[in-house]
Amino acid sequence: MQNTASKTAFPPSFVWGVATSAYQIEGAAAEDGRGPSIWDTFTHTEGKIIDRSTGDIACDHYHRYAEDVDLIAALNVNAYRFSVAWPRVQPRGAGAWNEKGFDFYSRLLDKLQEKNIPAHLTLYHWDLPQALQDNGGWLNRDTTRRFADYAAEVARRFGARVATITTHNEPWCTSVLGHGTGQFAPGMADPAAAIQVSHHLLLSHGLALQAMRAINTPAKLGIVLNQWTATPATASAADKAKAELEYAKSVQWYMDPIFKGRYPELALENIDRTAFFASENDFIDIQQPLDFLGVNYYTRAFVSAETPPKQPEGALGFSDMGWEIYPQGLTDLLLGLHREYKLPPIYITENGIAVADKINNGRVDDQLRTDYVRMHLAALADAMAQGVDVRGYFYWSLMDNFEWNSGYEKRFGLLYVDYATQQRTTKDSALWYRDFIAGQTQARDAGSSAGIALK
Ligand code: FCB
Repeated sequence: MQNTASKTAFPPSFVWGVATSAYQIEGAAAEDGRGPSIWDTFTHTEGKIIDRSTGDIACDHYHRYAEDVDLIAALNVNAYRFSVAWPRVQPRGAGAWNEKGFDFYSRLLDKLQEKNIPAHLTLYHWDLPQALQDNGGWLNRDTTRRFADYAAEVARRFGARVATITTHNEPWCTSVLGHGTGQFAPGMADPAAAIQVSHHLLLSHGLALQAMRAINTPAKLGIVLNQWTATPATASAADKAKAELEYAKSVQWYMDPIFKGRYPELALENIDRTAFFASENDFIDIQQPLDFLGVNYYTRAFVSAETPPKQPEGALGFSDMGWEIYPQGLTDLLLGLHREYKLPPIYITENGIAVADKINNGRVDDQLRTDYVRMHLAALADAMAQGVDVRGYFYWSLMDNFEWNSGYEKRFGLLYVDYATQQRTTKDSALWYRDFIAGQTQARDAGSSAGIALK
């Protein structure tokens, strides 16, 4: 396909959005009855977060949500993706609901509606109530039931006020980083436990979908997976085999149960199954039809079997996280998924880049971020031109925020946040994104599909 993106192939109904998550922006960690989550515990444990920071205050979005929604509206986007903090609305993850917590999200939804911005709600962006962790967390099968109850309650209250509800954000991270390596909360370093956790996350997703469908929620329902292609570093058989296994363990491990009702053989043969229990019926629960699939894409996996591993050359550079900039991976990934699965409509629910932004006379010149977005939109348009049904794109993130174990050192935002004053400054990339979306809208109104050239 030749340069399809230069004609800007995005359909008129395409959704343009920005994304955030609760723990990364809200702050107000102990306010209005919110219970502690595993991320509160983790960030308050010495040595877990690079800059020793916590999400206690974060971007203070809990108090500044109205101003933030005004800023979102100024970007011309027509979608906002955020997450509900489970411990804010159900402090112990079971039992009593916290009305003040629900009130906050209700105010947020009112404000979004006032600005005509459809809401895309995520139920779980990693902040498990600590009380559930004290009972074994995602290693305890009972947590899957607790999650389904929570999902049904949120859907009952908000299902008619949001466009979509996502069960989980990136279960791979909760499983592998949270339980396999211990880099994320709850900080467990036990690969066998991580496998069981991944199964419970998938099961809880399926149970939550069924619980929400049982009450006929009008919202569209789906899940968000973080995905990448796995490129062998060389043509050696060892690199190829390792890359194939990497793809099976990270992408197919989540896609296959949902779309095919089983785990991929290759991964099953190569994981630590000592703590693994899954019943056949679980796959019936997991394999529920999805209204949409959310795909988060940042970079590819470059896989080398050598010691030390070969590194990618990074012709287009690397982000401040050290992640290779590789837009072609988005096209390849989507085409691969399209070949292998019967996909529902797709949203790119996250794509973005950390840049070591500096503010100069009130301006943030972040050309690299603009280039990153432009290249990834071109890559996305290529995949769409080849038949992949993509309905929207969300930039990660609306604003700089608490980047998990990297603390506040990594800036992904379209808005620069000065954490001392909580002042938000619109970066140059945000202006580009705003104008790009306006160009799309104008092209739509003029009845043509021509917008701003991407390449
Ligand atoms: C994703 C997470 C999101 C953010 C970005 C950079 O894995 O979903 O919260 O941390 O990465």
